[in-house]
Amino acid sequence: MKLDYLLLEQIDAVALIRLNRPLSLNALCAELAAELAGVLDRLEQDRSVRAVVLTGTDTVFAAGADIMAMRNRNYIDVYTSDFVTVDWERLASFRKPVIAAVAGYALGGGCEMALMCDFIIAAESARFGQPEIKLGTIPGAGGSQRLAHFIGKAKAMDMVLTGRTLDAHEAERCGLVSRVVSDAALLNEALRVAARIAGYSGPVAMMAKEAVNGAFETTLSEGVRQERRLFHSTFAIEDQKEGMAAFAEKREPQFMHR
Ligand code: HXC
Repeated sequence: MKLDYLLLEQIDAVALIRLNRPLSLNALCAELAAELAGVLDRLEQDRSVRAVVLTGTDTVFAAGADIMAMRNRNYIDVYTSDFVTVDWERLASFRKPVIAAVAGYALGGGCEMALMCDFIIAAESARFGQPEIKLGTIPGAGGSQRLAHFIGKAKAMDMVLTGRTLDAHEAERCGLVSRVVSDAALLNEALRVAARIAGYSGPVAMMAKEAVNGAFETTLSEGVRQERRLFHSTFAIEDQKEGMAAFAEKREPQFMHR
C-alpha cells in the first residue's frame, strides 16, 4: 500500500503510524484521513497487530484540519459529502488499542484526532487546543463532546470558547493525557506501553477497550451490564485459562490470542 501522508511500520505486534505532512504541520486533509482509514481497516484485520501508536513528527502532532482546503468549501458541499464523518470517524470505531503520542501542537482536528485514541502520552512540548473559534467555526470532529466527557464542562468550555492552548502538565492535571514524558523519551515510551498492551491477550484487550468505551456511550447500569457480559465472555477464551493457570503455577502466561 503506497502512502503519501503517513509512515507505517510494525515493531513486533505494535503498528506505528506517523502523520507525515511536515511542511504544513501535519494539517489534516481529506487525502490523509482517507489513508488513515485505509490503514486502520488493514490493521484491524491483521492478527499480527495487537496495539497501535499514532504520532506526528518530533515537533508537531497536527495543527488541525487543513484550513487552506476548507476555506472555500460551502455548506451544501460539506453537508452532502458528510465532511469529517467520512474517514475521520474510522479512528473512533477502531477496535484495537491505540495510543496517541503527542509532541508539539495538537490543535483543532489534531486535538480531536488524539482524543479519538484510547489514551494520550504527551511530551513536555505538547500543546492542546481547539482554536476553531478564532477561524469563525467550531470543533467538528467530536472535540466539543469528547472534551466535555473526558475533562468536564469547565475546561471544555474554556478551551472551545477561548481557543487557548493547554500545555502538557495542565493537560495531565485535567485528565486529557495519561502521562507526560520528555520529548526525547516520547516515542520509546509510547512504543513500550503499546508493547506491554500487545503482550496481553489481543481479544481480551479489545474487550477491555470496548468495556471502558461503554462508559461514554450509555447509562451506568447499562454500561455495567455490558461490562459483565464482556467479563463473562473472557471465560470462553483460552487466554483466560492460561492467564489464571500461569498465576496459580507461578509462571509467566503464554497468551495465544484466542
Ligand atoms: C493548513 C497549516 C495549518 C492548518 C499550519 N499550516 N497549520 N496549513 N491548515 N491547520 C501551515 C502554515 O500555513 C504554514 O505554511 C506552515 O504550516 C507553518 O505554519 P506557521 O504558521 O508558519 O508556523 P508557526 O508560526 O510555528 O505557527 C504554528 C501554529 C499556526 C500556531 C500551529 O500554524 C496555526 O495557528 N495554525 C492553525 C491552527 C488552527 O487553527 N487549527 C485548527 C484548524 S480548524 P506556509 O506555506 O506558510 O509555510 C480545524 C477544524 C476541525 O481543525 C474540524 C474537524 C476536522
